[in-house]
Parts: sequence; structure tokens; C-alpha cells
Amino acid sequence: MCPSVHAALGALALALALPTPAAADESVIGGKPAPLSHSPWAVALASHERFGAQRSGQFCGGVLVGHSTVVTAAHCLSKEVLGVPWRQVRDLKIVVGRDNLAAGGGQELKPAKIWVNPRYNSWTNDGDMAVLTLDKPLPNRPIPIAGRSDSAYRPGNAATVYGWGDTTGGGSYASHLRAAHVNVLPDAVCARAYPGSADGKYRARSMLCAGEPTGGRDACQGDSGGPLVVGGRLVGLVSWGTGCGQAGSPGVYTRASALLPAVAAHGAD
Ligand code: ARG
Repeated sequence: MCPSVHAALGALALALALPTPAAADESVIGGKPAPLSHSPWAVALASHERFGAQRSGQFCGGVLVGHSTVVTAAHCLSKEVLGVPWRQVRDLKIVVGRDNLAAGGGQELKPAKIWVNPRYNSWTNDGDMAVLTLDKPLPNRPIPIAGRSDSAYRPGNAATVYGWGDTTGGGSYASHLRAAHVNVLPDAVCARAYPGSADGKYRARSMLCAGEPTGGRDACQGDSGGPLVVGGRLVGLVSWGTGCGQAGSPGVYTRASALLPAVAAHGAD
């Protein structure tokens, strides 16, 4: 079948299947543009070799947590995402300060060192974290990681998730950074939503979940590794979920406090 027909049928099927078609033009899902000047710690991971030159080759998000340290999701550096082991991706770059991935600006930096959590569990998604370091410190403002007992993790808190990922759940990737407002949910709600399935299993110690009771606002494919922020502190990294923006299936994040030992051991700041 010709790809455009395929795409049109896909769009039609999607339009028929989507419970709330209005979510499609809102859109991250249900978000709005987020100028990088306000979120200079939001970075993109990219490879032209693996993902083409369009949108700078972006495939995941990341977060500047020190002037020389970036955190992301372990699964972003998996063979499932990259097609090959990450060591074989010769042009893996951290894109900093580039609002519009379809244009220039900012910098593309080669990580000096990469640590991928060897204990990342691709079945439960537990331990979904990686630390990338730069050999020269950036002037860009990093974001502090909320400590374990920080009030930022309190259920009901208003949080913001940032990314260049899918804005509809149908494969329309953003060129400009976007952000959506979601609420931090109680662990009991997350555990009930994700008791264990092919998508993963919720574990409160190392994960956090956030969303809206009616869905509509969420992270989606391509946002992984990117920041979830409360009150100017990092509380999570986009990790997984069932679908995107569906009621009853909140987004699951790597709990940022779980990153602290890894950042201390493998970061460069
Ligand atoms: N695994 C996805 C990625 O690699 C992120 C999925 C997040 N999903 C969600 N519903 N919040 O980009």
C-alpha cells in the first residue's frame, strides 16, 4: 500500500478510536509551547545517523542537573530504541538551547561519558535512568533534583512535564519544546493503575506517577528522559505509561530522588 494512503487510513482509524478527538489539537499531549529561556535545563538527545536530520535527529529528552551532567531514561539508550547498542551510535548528541529542532541554534554536544543503569529492568521499568557527562561545563542553568522528602513529591501538587515528543499519540512529533500540566498522584492510585502488565509495574520507591483524572494531558513517545518539574525542582523523568493521555493510565516517571546516588557517583559536577 502506498504510504500516504496508509497514513490517511491510520489517521482515520485514530480519529475513530480516540475517545476525545479534541485532545488532538490541544496537545507533549494537552500541552502548549514552552520557551527554552524559561526551561534552559531541558535538553534533547539526538542522532542523525539513527533518526534522520529532521528535528535534529531528536529521539528522547534529558535534563541538565549540573553544568556538566545530564540525566535521561535508561531505556532511551536501549537497543529497542536505537536499533543498535548505544556504543555503536557514533553521533549521539545532547542538544542544548535549541527551541526549534527543525531550525538551528544552541549547541550539539558529544557526551564525554555515558552511564546506563545496569540494573534497569525492562519488564517492570524499574531503575530507568542514565547519566551523561560533558567534558566542558555549560553556562546554561541546571535544575536542582528534589531530595527524597521534599514536599514537591506530595500528591496533588501541580507539575509540568516538558518534551519534544508526540503531541497526539498518533506520531506527530513537535518541533518546538512543549509543556503540559499534570498532577502528582498518590502512590496507591499509581499502583492500582499499574499492578503489573506488559507495559510495566509501578514501584513507589523508584517511580512516581502523574496525570489528570480524565486524561488528556500527559507525556508521550519521544518525551522519555525529559523533566517533570514541581516548584522549580526536578521530581521525575518521563519513563512509561499505557498509551498517552488516557483516563486511568497516568504517566509514570523515574522518581528524581532515586537519581541522586547515580548522579553523585557518575555525574561530573
Ligand atoms: N516510553 C516513552 C518514550 O520513550 C515515554 C512514554 C510516556 N508515556 C506516557 N503515557 N506518559 O518516549
